Amino acid sequence: MKKDQWIMGLETSCDETAVAIIKNGREIAANIVASQIESHKRFGGVVPEIASRHHVEQITIVIEEALNQANLSFSDLDGIAVTEGPGLVGALLIGVNAAKALAFAHNIPLVPIHHIAGHIYANQLVTELKFPLLSLVVSGGHTEIVYMKEHGHFEVIGETRDDAAGEAYDKVARTLNLPYPGGPHIDRLAQGGKDTLDLPRAWLEEGSYDFSFSGLKSAVINTVHNAEQRGEVIAPEDLAASFQASVIDVLVKKIIRATAEYEVKQVLLAGGVAANKGLRMALEKAFSEKSGIELVIPPLNLCTDNAAMIAAAGSIMFEKGIRADLSLNANPGLDIEIYN
Ligand code: KG4
Ligand code: ZN
Repeated sequence: MKKDQWIMGLETSCDETAVAIIKNGREIAANIVASQIESHKRFGGVVPEIASRHHVEQITIVIEEALNQANLSFSDLDGIAVTEGPGLVGALLIGVNAAKALAFAHNIPLVPIHHIAGHIYANQLVTELKFPLLSLVVSGGHTEIVYMKEHGHFEVIGETRDDAAGEAYDKVARTLNLPYPGGPHIDRLAQGGKDTLDLPRAWLEEGSYDFSFSGLKSAVINTVHNAEQRGEVIAPEDLAASFQASVIDVLVKKIIRATAEYEVKQVLLAGGVAANKGLRMALEKAFSEKSGIELVIPPLNLCTDNAAMIAAAGSIMFEKGIRADLSLNANPGLDIEIYN
């Protein structure tokens, strides 16, 4: 009988200190996330220095908690997967250095992981991935459509030319005086509002899978300011619903069009904005009318940053023989196509 494979994942690219342990690439044995959101809230966004300091304070505690939850010790681990980039350099460095120290001290192979590859592999904790596939990645820092012909191969067929979807959500939320991160608040407001404002949709050139959200963001901000100057009040629910309708319309139509050009078995949703109720519902509806393609959406706790997704990707990369040595450094601008 084949021995079980145990991979520990470490994720510290932004404002969550996360450690997880995954069995055979698919089963969660431990999944700990120490969120720093409360510390960043009063600044309206993530403050890099504060993020680094929290990671330093939390990382050892979270590693121990994960081992306790899984009832394992370091000697049971086959590999340590860590987010190498992209992200905040000072935040990434804490995870990378912790992983290197553990790998050295316990003689465990070190596996470097791209953060977005992790988001995509969150779906492997839901079901087995079937190739070729397309993934719609929508996070705070990234919005892209990724084509995968096999495990570990990532081809970006379209990406945002300015703001990421999550970034647009957070900026619009700020205009409405909602706390950071604004995405979930806009999502909640949108459920109770109507798409009454005629906001723009950036389709870009014919055939392009790229995105642009900065025009939409500016349109929302201008709409709010113009109304204020005229002494009018726009219901925040309707503003949220109209903004959300515009974002979802573009995301859903572009991924549906991509499935007409690329013959795929699955479409995976990935990234923090994948937690958006409106987007999940719109995709489910669109794909229920399209037979032959399986839509996979991670549960809410695996959409936003976590380490289970890093360990899931780590399991595949470990099998592919991808390793880092102790010269591994944080790479804030890491390219996902580097694996191909
Ligand atoms: O993937 P993630 O946790 O971190 C990055 O890698 O960027 O994504 C965080 C982003 C934030 O912009 C947050 O506002 C957004 O995901 N987000 C949402 C929702 N939940 C989180 N956006 C829209 N609707 C949500 N329900
Ligand atoms: Zn993320």
